[in-house]
Amino acid sequence: MPRGPRPRLWLLLLPLLLAVGLGQHGRAGPREAAEERGSGPAWRAFQGLRERLRVAGTLSKRYWALFACRVWPEACEQDEEGAAWPHGWSLPLLGQQYLDTLTSWYCSFQDCCGGGDCRITNNFTGLESDLRVRLHGQHLAQELVPTAVRSYLALPRPDKALALSFHGWSGTGKNFVARMLAENLYRDGLRSDCVKLFIATFHFPHPKDADLYEEWLTDQMRETRERCGQTLFVFDEAEKLHPGLLEALRPHLQLQAPDSLRAESPRSILLFLSNLGGNVINEEVLRLLKAGWAREAVTVDQLEPRLQAEIVASTDSSFGHSRLVKDNLIDFFVPFLPLEYRHVRLCARDAFLSQKLPYAEEDLDQIATMMVYVPQEEKIFSSQGCKSISQRINYFLP
Ligand SMILES: *[C@@H]1O[C@H](CO)[C@@H](O)[C@H](O)[C@H]1NC(C)=O
Repeated sequence: MPRGPRPRLWLLLLPLLLAVGLGQHGRAGPREAAEERGSGPAWRAFQGLRERLRVAGTLSKRYWALFACRVWPEACEQDEEGAAWPHGWSLPLLGQQYLDTLTSWYCSFQDCCGGGDCRITNNFTGLESDLRVRLHGQHLAQELVPTAVRSYLALPRPDKALALSFHGWSGTGKNFVARMLAENLYRDGLRSDCVKLFIATFHFPHPKDADLYEEWLTDQMRETRERCGQTLFVFDEAEKLHPGLLEALRPHLQLQAPDSLRAESPRSILLFLSNLGGNVINEEVLRLLKAGWAREAVTVDQLEPRLQAEIVASTDSSFGHSRLVKDNLIDFFVPFLPLEYRHVRLCARDAFLSQKLPYAEEDLDQIATMMVYVPQEEKIFSSQGCKSISQRINYFLP
């Protein structure tokens, strides 16, 4: 946790930092800047620039806000959502470059959580453990999600955002995994100012307002990316997103020349959650189970061709017809398998444990038996997955 002077004092010092970090070093990397701290040219510049400090003072409020967010997330969080970010205000490219240099320079001698951004935790041990322990019946997601995210975040200069599309019936764990990602990659989880969650029917309910939504979404994403070098955008109910909104996301997913001006390339992960293709996944899994396959032996290669074909063919959603899908801009389609009785039992157990309630094995069976199982004859898959299990345990309260 950085223990620097209080923000008010830094507000005065900021232009000086800017001048030292930029005027003198130009594009000095963090290492060069670090070598020069204290005595060398940086310090002389520091001394010589007191005059300019006063002049530049008023210009730098916005840089201050951005800078403070990077190195003092606590200070940043105290602002009301959006208060520090006037609507429509965008940091020019040059400003972004300055900010990177400034942050690197500052972090070269201050504790910025190991030279990084305190808001970003990227705890893969935690992610893998959560996926293993708290998610039930999803061996494909357990394997695909951390692998895809880890290798993307390890790229030195990613040239596009990473796009993962989660598919499956409701209650199979898509939102749960999105939350696990947010919680393990960011200190403040879904509330992080590096993370944005958009729910189609909630944020974009009226098709006639699509133009407004598009502008708002573009602004939101741009502002989030300006605040944070590693962002996560979650689109829930992606099957209900208006075509215009999907199109607005395309620039994030298309190859871009890495921005060589920046000290570090920004990273962005887009998650699309939808029930598109859920039926096909279920049919395919049922077929394989009947053919004697173990559920855990089902591979993504067995499911993906039919899943993709189904998504592209879907007529009641724009997602499959969007250029995101047509131009292969989605990196991974992650199938979520339908849950069986034994998985529902595990969800019930977790719900008791998380509410610190005592339970007997029969209670778990009783809850699992309340769910509706399909198909009609075999009754193998819970039609609601593990949805609303935690409400159901209320019946067992004393
Ligand atoms: C990562 O997550 C695990 C499991 O939640 C936790 O025990 C560990 O302290 C975390 N590591 C860091 C560096 O936060």
